[in-house]
Amino acid sequence: MTLAPHIARQLDEEAAGRAARRRTIAEVPLGSRQGPRVVLPDGRDVLNLCSNDYLGLAGDPLLHATVVAAQERWGLGAAAGRIISGTFAPHVALEAELSAFLGTPASMLFTSCFDANAGLFEALAGPEDLILSDAHNHASIIDGIRLSRARRATYPSRDLRELRRLLEDAGDARRILIVTDGVFSMDGEGADLPRLCDLADRFDALLIVDDSHGVGVLGPLGQGAISGCGVEGRVDLITGTFGKALGGLGGFISGRSELIAALRQTSRPYLFSNALPPAYAEGARYVLRMLQRDEAPLTRLRENVALLREELRRCGAEVADGQHPIIPIILGDEEVTRATASRLRDEGMLVVPLTHPVVARGQARLRLQVSAAHDPDDLRWAARVIGDAVRRAAVGRVADLGRAR
Ligand SMILES: Cc1ncc(COP(=O)(O)O)c(C=O)c1O
Repeated sequence: MTLAPHIARQLDEEAAGRAARRRTIAEVPLGSRQGPRVVLPDGRDVLNLCSNDYLGLAGDPLLHATVVAAQERWGLGAAAGRIISGTFAPHVALEAELSAFLGTPASMLFTSCFDANAGLFEALAGPEDLILSDAHNHASIIDGIRLSRARRATYPSRDLRELRRLLEDAGDARRILIVTDGVFSMDGEGADLPRLCDLADRFDALLIVDDSHGVGVLGPLGQGAISGCGVEGRVDLITGTFGKALGGLGGFISGRSELIAALRQTSRPYLFSNALPPAYAEGARYVLRMLQRDEAPLTRLRENVALLREELRRCGAEVADGQHPIIPIILGDEEVTRATASRLRDEGMLVVPLTHPVVARGQARLRLQVSAAHDPDDLRWAARVIGDAVRRAAVGRVADLGRAR
């Protein structure tokens, strides 16, 4: 069967447009488990500085054994949505244990956090409501808001003065929702949750925080940005993923019981999509128990983050203050950033270059992500090589400027 020629032509033109704008995305099929080092298609074993596997659990043998044993008991897929025959004992147990871990009254599961965000706004907000969203929020929040028919406005990232102005202008909105990432994935910086809670209280708005990059990383036991900022009980809904620091798969919404009860009746991905495979729910239960009895992975992560940040500075890279395992190194120029990432790959490490439109023009950067499973010697080596590459990039830029004059 061949594609209709006009559609084939359109797709070719669109692909050429993406290539001209340097927007073609290349996938790198790994030949090994996710982990601190991975095997590339050419067989090279390289240092991996671009996974969300912050606690090093994605390849963890004990987590695997738990999920495999649970698959023996519960089978592979749920083969039904939660309201048909897809609710299993591990789902109910995980929802209760997640709430106990996060300090929230109720929780519900999704197959991904993308689904959680996609199913939240349409369920809670209609045309008479207003949603206020941080400009750097994740794509799944943006899409979730698009699916709702609510009025919406975006405030410049972390600009709470502008958010306040929008709240003051809310007029006769029946309900106001404020939504923010807990930690922004482009730079690892956190939202100012205490002030956001104050604003939500002052204007009777619901506050929703996507803590996908906070859970498992921040807070005393990895409960996330909410606990890290001391605002437990003040955020109405938290969304998050089991697919980053927690090493598995799945998403959740956790928070006020009345809201969770309403979402169980109305959130479309919850109602009309397969439930999370029960074995993955068992995997998440194992990780939550582990985090509460063993502080070693979180301690190792924090030591590795401090080490890489310090070594990078010592080697001449500019690194902003922060404690999150996402470490941006802003180079500015898009070509230079891409070329530097590619040079680093030749040298033996995977680092992601982020360019426009993912980040603002002139803010192109390398994004490094640290894991508890990284060997400290690998991180010291990486800092030296990155320091060198960044210096060469700066020299190249100055030479280019000279030529241009
Ligand atoms: C802030 C944020 N929210 C949601 C998601 C989606 O999570 P999941 O992979 O569970 O769909 C991501 C993943 O990139 C994310 O960074």
